[in-house]
Amino acid sequence: MSPKMKLKAGQAKPVASSAAKVEIAKAKGRPMLSWVGKRALKFVTAFPAQFVEKFDPAEDAQKRKGELWSDWPKDYPKGGLLFHGDNKEVLAHLLLNGFRGKVKLIYIDPPFDSGADYVRKVTLRGPKGTAKLDGETYALGEQIQYTDIWANDNYLQFMFDRLLMHKELLSEDGVIVVHCDWKKSHHLRCLLDEVFGIETFRNEIYWHFYNKMHDDRKDIFPRATNTLLVYSKGDNPIFNKIASPREKTVKQLKRIKVNGILVNLKDDEGNLVYQESDTKTLDNVWDIPLIPPADVNQKTDYPTQKPQALLELILLTYSEAGDLVLDSFIGSGTTALVAQRWGRRWIGCDINKGAIQTTAKRLQGIIRKQTEDSERQHPELIQAEEKKPEPTQLSFAVYRVNDYDLSVQHNEAVNLACEHIGIERNRGDAYFDGILGKSLVKIIPFGRPLTPLDFDELRRELEARPDEDRPITLVCLGMELGAKAEIEEWNRLRKGKDAVNRVEVIELRTDPKYGKFMVHEPATAKVAIRRIKDKIVIEIQDFISPSIIMRLQEQAGLLKPKIDDWRAMVDCVMTDTAFDGKVFNVIHSDVPEKKTDFVQGKYELSVPPGKTTVAVKIIDMLGEEILCQETL
Ligand SMILES: C[S@@+](CC[C@H](N)C(=O)[O-])C[C@H]1O[C@@H](n2cnc3c(N)ncnc32)[C@H](O)[C@@H]1O
Repeated sequence: MSPKMKLKAGQAKPVASSAAKVEIAKAKGRPMLSWVGKRALKFVTAFPAQFVEKFDPAEDAQKRKGELWSDWPKDYPKGGLLFHGDNKEVLAHLLLNGFRGKVKLIYIDPPFDSGADYVRKVTLRGPKGTAKLDGETYALGEQIQYTDIWANDNYLQFMFDRLLMHKELLSEDGVIVVHCDWKKSHHLRCLLDEVFGIETFRNEIYWHFYNKMHDDRKDIFPRATNTLLVYSKGDNPIFNKIASPREKTVKQLKRIKVNGILVNLKDDEGNLVYQESDTKTLDNVWDIPLIPPADVNQKTDYPTQKPQALLELILLTYSEAGDLVLDSFIGSGTTALVAQRWGRRWIGCDINKGAIQTTAKRLQGIIRKQTEDSERQHPELIQAEEKKPEPTQLSFAVYRVNDYDLSVQHNEAVNLACEHIGIERNRGDAYFDGILGKSLVKIIPFGRPLTPLDFDELRRELEARPDEDRPITLVCLGMELGAKAEIEEWNRLRKGKDAVNRVEVIELRTDPKYGKFMVHEPATAKVAIRRIKDKIVIEIQDFISPSIIMRLQEQAGLLKPKIDDWRAMVDCVMTDTAFDGKVFNVIHSDVPEKKTDFVQGKYELSVPPGKTTVAVKIIDMLGEEILCQETL
């Protein structure tokens, strides 16, 4: 992406006035892994969540009552919950708001410290060659979805903090499954021993993806497994034994129980009795192919998407219908999708807006199908003959914890800001992000303002580094007044040429020198919304995204790229026919399944009687959303 790419900066709202501290219990203990800069996590800051979108085609959340939902915190709609934000803050929010000890199964598939930026290829919709110039086709390039590059031991601290918090959310009979690969599985196992206790280890499962294209290295065996580390909170976790089909029917010894003890059956002559068997008990090596690129039903464009069959095995083994399942690194939403299919309740979270949009689209699809009652059997499943449980909910709500509504993905935003200001990134420091001149730089997540708690954290960090005498620069989008006052007081006590650790703040929204690149030219649309009797007719007449045009322009040089149909730029369109100005209630969604198909662009929908506000949300191929509304 070019450094000219701009950020939309107007939406960070002060939230810390209602931020609260949440206490976190200590790790269980031994053995302990040590790393440079290891810190105990005694408390975390919980921020309020904004309810931003709901999908409830059958008005299901209102109707859900009964025993199953009696434990549900009353401020949340009874349905799936999808959180956009850093999971440290989201988990803190869940702990503060009634979910402590309620989760039966946690599956996490965190970054693996792969040293890579995970990108998705962004294309335009429509038949190949939609954007053309002199007969040539243009693509939109790649968009970073998340970064998996870590300094030294930062990764361990990141995972340690999150494992401690996940443990607080687990119920006594709950289980956590941590998905990892060869690079970090040994460290994660030590961390899990430390956080959960070595006696709670249950299994190390190998997911063998046998159709992987192997790398070229000649000096090692090809790596064709990932590891699932399974720990329980208490002594009696849920475990449903799964049988898998045998390729050929084989004979096995017939066994019976005598006084509760299993013995082998013998006939009158004393010969052991055998029986035919079609199934075998699954062991800890699971052979499940990667998602074939041609599997359009399953494949999203999200990098590192896991196969549904893998999640199905995990969920069926470690949870029952109705249980609450949490995935705080939800990515493309596979865990939520499988939970929804198999009658589990679910909570998902991701820091990346693209992940939230992909998950929301997938969940809308399955819930629509379930609402229409057509989604029932799933043939490739091991227990296919068993009927699936009824869906536990037919709705979900999307929340935002802190405001991550940057028009570009968060990591890209940080990279761009560093590039723009001239910050030299230092990935070797567990706390500071880089160097600017002589100053150490800390970047405050752009999704929220700098708060007094950030400043407390900085103070603690400097106390732990008594020899550090360099000035500090804090880079943020905006700053709370409380933080400003504390920093002024700190600097008042540090005057003169020998003063150490003076703090300077670059507030990007208003900074006269650095703030200039924080301009974003938003996408625009021409939408006609009319009422015809009891129907509403919506027609999108035009849509233009300057960011998409700019990306094409970068490839086209001096020539002008041409897009014949505005629909090439649009990924999906959603409508709320009675928008209340706060929560977008998806009444209708137009998400073409194939990349070669366009959205329809014209819709006729029923509308509630009387005055109503119709809102149309258009999401483009870069994930930028715009909202057009009309009160009729
Ligand atoms: C390996 S992917 C998960 C893929 C997922 N299992 C699937 O099937 O699509 C890891 C995800 O973690 C998210 N992530 C990384 N750091 C995070 C954080 N601090 N909070 C929440 N999500 C985070 C990334 O955005 C990414 O979507």
